[in-house]
Amino acid sequence: MLKLAIAADHGGYELKEYIVNYLRSRRDVEVTDLGTDTDKQSVDYPDYAAKVAKAIQNGRAERGILLCGTGIGISITANKFKGIRAALCHDAYTARMSRAHNDANILAMGGRTTGKETAMDMVRIWLETEFEGGRHSRRVGKITELEQKEM
Ligand code: RB5
Repeated sequence: MLKLAIAADHGGYELKEYIVNYLRSRRDVEVTDLGTDTDKQSVDYPDYAAKVAKAIQNGRAERGILLCGTGIGISITANKFKGIRAALCHDAYTARMSRAHNDANILAMGGRTTGKETAMDMVRIWLETEFEGGRHSRRVGKITELEQKEM
């Protein structure tokens, strides 16, 4: 059972709800929805990026999905946290590559830029694609080394 945390700001709320419904129908995913719970109130995407990033850091989740209007702010924020590799993806190809080559542990998407069917394809592929390792392990390892240094 893959433990997955998901969150969005108001701009990603509607697509998050759609994705959560899908995830709850899968038997191989245990989903924790960390909000937001409405699109009627404006909230700040860094707060929701932090919730999912911290859930991964403390082991409550293995992977995460984050959404804001464009996916940009929420992915920038998530990538400030050690050990987080958040990939802002727009289609099935980038979703697949983010797992196969980058071992992304967060999939970020834009609720105002990505349609529901495209998002569903991306989520399915992202959940089911394994990291290829090999030469990509060396590169991902260098990301980890860089985040240990003060830059
Ligand atoms: C909120 O209006 C919007 O700025 C936010 O959802 C996101 O797109 C930021 O990157």
